[in-house]
Amino acid sequence: MEQLKQKIRTCGVVLSDKVLKVDAFLNHQIDPLLMQQIGHEFAERFRDQGITKIVTIEASGIAPAVMAGLELGVPVIFARKHQSLTLTDNLLTAAVYSFTKQVESTIAVSTRHLDASDRVLIIDDFLANGKAAKGLISIIQQAGASIAGLGIVIEKSFQNGRQELEADGFRVESLARIQSLENGQVSFVE
Ligand code: G4P
Ligand code: NA
Ligand code: NA
Repeated sequence: MEQLKQKIRTCGVVLSDKVLKVDAFLNHQIDPLLMQQIGHEFAERFRDQGITKIVTIEASGIAPAVMAGLELGVPVIFARKHQSLTLTDNLLTAAVYSFTKQVESTIAVSTRHLDASDRVLIIDDFLANGKAAKGLISIIQQAGASIAGLGIVIEKSFQNGRQELEADGFRVESLARIQSLENGQVSFVE
């Protein structure tokens, strides 16, 4: 998606060979117009799939997921990373290990909002090693729902998330695919 790649080129900051900072439009400040275009692009790619729900994970997945949900006319569920005062009963949970933070956390979705009649599009801001995506997949499968695929805003193609998800049979649609962050330069997969 050209507008997104352009935004990454102009506003992205390469922090290391492995990490791209996009706080200017995705992870802290949000560019609503770009998010709308991103939502439209996800909707175009999955429009014929009979999607009934979008599932993402807080916090940074929510903006692109809501825009896609608006385009597809379906509700958006975000998995929670922290215990909630009001969300306590009948939780579907999965353990997610973060390589970046080197900690395992539990993510949760209420059974109230997801069931076997649902066909789900998973959306997330980044795909690195795919641990968060796999946690979401586990939760959706526990609900008995089917999975149409994953919509990723920025894929780090030099990490193994896509490979693992495809090996498990899932369709992955990434709007920007980063080949390398070496020498402080962003290069995209052609
Ligand atoms: P994985 O799920 O694919 O294995 O990734 P990992 O544990 O490494 O990612 C942990 C967090 O870091 C996630 O956000 C993920 O989106 C984010 N992340 C991974 N690589 C990058 C990167 O190169 N740049 C940026 N900006 N983020 C990256 P999170 O901690 O859940 O935070 P939130 O932003 O959703 O609140
Ligand atoms: Na993130
Ligand atoms: Na995320």
